[in-house]
Amino acid sequence: MCISPNRLCDQKNEGKHCGRLDRQRKRIFARPLLAVILSILCILCGLRLLLAAQDWSPKNFSRIDWQPTRAAEGAHYVGTSSCAKCHPEQVRTQPVSPMGLALQRAQDAPVLRAHRRLTFRTGPFLYTIEWEGDRVVYRVSDGQRTVSEPILAAFGLGDAGQTYLLQHQGSYYESRVSFFNDVQTLDFTLGHPRSVPESLEGAFGKKVRPGEASLCFACHSTASVRGTTLQLDRMIPGITCEGCHGPGGKHVATMQSGDRKEPSIFNPGGLAAGDLVEFCGSCHRGSFQVELTGMSGVQTVRFQPYRLTGSRCFNPQDPRIGCLACHNPHQSRSRDAAFYDAKCLSCHPAVSTEPTSGQTASACPVGKKLCTDCHMPKFVLPGGHLEFTDHRIRVARTKAFPD
Ligand code: HEC
Ligand code: HEC
Ligand code: HEC
Ligand code: HEC
Ligand code: HEC
Ligand code: HEC
Ligand code: HEC
Repeated sequence: MCISPNRLCDQKNEGKHCGRLDRQRKRIFARPLLAVILSILCILCGLRLLLAAQDWSPKNFSRIDWQPTRAAEGAHYVGTSSCAKCHPEQVRTQPVSPMGLALQRAQDAPVLRAHRRLTFRTGPFLYTIEWEGDRVVYRVSDGQRTVSEPILAAFGLGDAGQTYLLQHQGSYYESRVSFFNDVQTLDFTLGHPRSVPESLEGAFGKKVRPGEASLCFACHSTASVRGTTLQLDRMIPGITCEGCHGPGGKHVATMQSGDRKEPSIFNPGGLAAGDLVEFCGSCHRGSFQVELTGMSGVQTVRFQPYRLTGSRCFNPQDPRIGCLACHNPHQSRSRDAAFYDAKCLSCHPAVSTEPTSGQTASACPVGKKLCTDCHMPKFVLPGGHLEFTDHRIRVARTKAFPD
């Protein structure tokens, strides 16, 4: 469903996934050497991915001792309810935003609470997700045999898709079917084959290596990973206040004591646009992660920080083009194109003849409003259901996706 670094150098995709940097290097070498060099590069690439998988965000954002994806040693997380008294505005909207609901315990997942029984059939296989007492159970049957496990965690709000993580015979599995909002029912999970499974085991789901499972939790929940160790007993589901602001124990104690000289909490609002893109990119993925995984093509439309920094509009010093210029991290995003016009018009005049101060970029010869409709086109990923907005702001002359 999601693209994490470990997955990218798996056997099936070997050559293709040796990073972009490596590919560029490859072109430099003469043909007879190619085979040898290719294999060396693949080994290096594998090593690099191995190391990098453990270091996914620390390398990327090294300004603070904790990371948005990792708890620091001895960090004291207190939970969102501790922030409510003093910051009611953020606590009202953030926990129910898609980021706040990026991971839910099955029993709390709105999708599963609204749908007490979900089914999906393919070939001889029947999938059922249903409540049993206070648990939600994922079951696959081929008519004769049945495999079932309680759902460990629900990933995603279901805005585009909700995938389930399961534990079966000591391993983690990503469910073969996901819930999709547009059809209000189950369908094959993105990235899994859409054909009838060959066996009951294959029908159950895709095995997720332990290191990869930690990455899922690291990006979708708070305080669940320390170093490279998954600590599910400490997990706070979803991206919570402390996911972006860091452990809040010290801040709460300081603020309660009345000594307010030093807030003792991180505010990403103080970062320059370029650093902010890296901060959000710990999960949303910037060029560092994209180069690491060697991905290209339309799949990279999911990685807004990477795409945005490739736009001519982007300037790492200019807050008018940082993520916060267009998104409030405490709220669901606006889906109204008109909302974004003012953001563009802070740099581009609507009419070329009368720019106001600060509007130093060029004016559009074609449109005066709904800028994003034409300059941030949307792409549906193969498999359907999921639509993303290309953050590489540009004149889109064709429907092609520029790398
Ligand atoms: C007892 C009241 C209180 C509680 C509880 C509290 N805060 Fe604060 N917080 C404040 C006050 C007061 C300020 C303003 C401090 C200042 O401007 O120096 C503040 C400022 C902040 C800032 C901005 C810091 C900056 O440098 O600009 C962030 C971020 C923040 N709080 C997050 C949180 C989070 C997350 C929690 C829950 C873990 C939390 N707060 C709990 C009182 C509180
Ligand atoms: C710890 C990981 C993490 C960090 C850090 C993070 N995000 Fe997210 N964000 C997510 C995940 C996961 C989702 C997908 C949630 C879903 O749809 O289930 C998401 C979704 C979003 C969305 C879509 C929400 C909607 O309303 O549809 C926006 C916009 C967004 N993030 C912006 C930001 C910005 C801006 C920052 C930096 C200030 C940021 N994110 C930092 C993990 C993160
Ligand atoms: C590097 C951080 C990262 C890792 C690792 C990661 N995710 Fe995500 N995931 C995101 C972000 C950011 C989004 C929102 C943008 C998108 O859909 O690509 C997301 C979106 C999703 C969605 C769609 C949510 C929705 O509401 O549409 C699902 C489901 C999901 N991830 C499941 C997983 C699973 C399962 C794993 C582990 C196999 C995983 N993710 C690993 C960051 C991550
Ligand atoms: C996805 C990351 C993210 C999450 C989750 C998040 N914040 Fe923030 N928060 C930010 C950013 C970025 C800023 C800076 C906003 C700005 O300057 O426009 C900020 C600013 C703040 C501030 C300073 C107020 C201000 O206007 O400058 C407070 C207080 C705060 N957040 C509290 C919270 C609380 C409480 C929660 C949980 C309910 C929370 N935040 C969740 C990213 C996040
Ligand atoms: C100039 C404005 C602008 C900036 C800057 C911007 N975004 Fe967006 N973003 C948008 C628009 C427009 C949408 C689509 C809104 C809609 O129609 O749903 C969007 C949608 C998203 C989504 C939902 C998934 C998708 O691709 O449609 C995520 C996640 C997101 N942005 C993250 C980010 C992050 C992270 C950054 C910083 C690297 C960022 N955005 C910077 C305008 C912006
Ligand atoms: C921080 C200022 C800034 C913001 C905000 C901004 N741009 Fe730009 N944009 C520029 C600059 C600078 C250029 C390159 C020089 C020029 O064309 O004036 C540019 C170039 C462009 C181009 C031509 C790109 C190409 O590849 O030829 C388009 C189209 C564009 N911007 C549209 C937009 C739209 C639409 C928005 C809002 C979603 C936006 N810009 C937001 C500064 C900005
Ligand atoms: C109906 C689609 C459409 C809308 C809406 C639209 N544009 Fe454009 N824009 C275009 C096209 C097409 C071009 C290329 C024109 C050409 O080169 O002949 C363009 C060109 C541009 C350029 C490059 C100008 C140059 O001198 O190179 C900028 C900047 C730009 N648009 C910004 C914007 C902004 C800002 C908005 C919103 C106020 C906007 N556009 C609304 C279609 C649109």
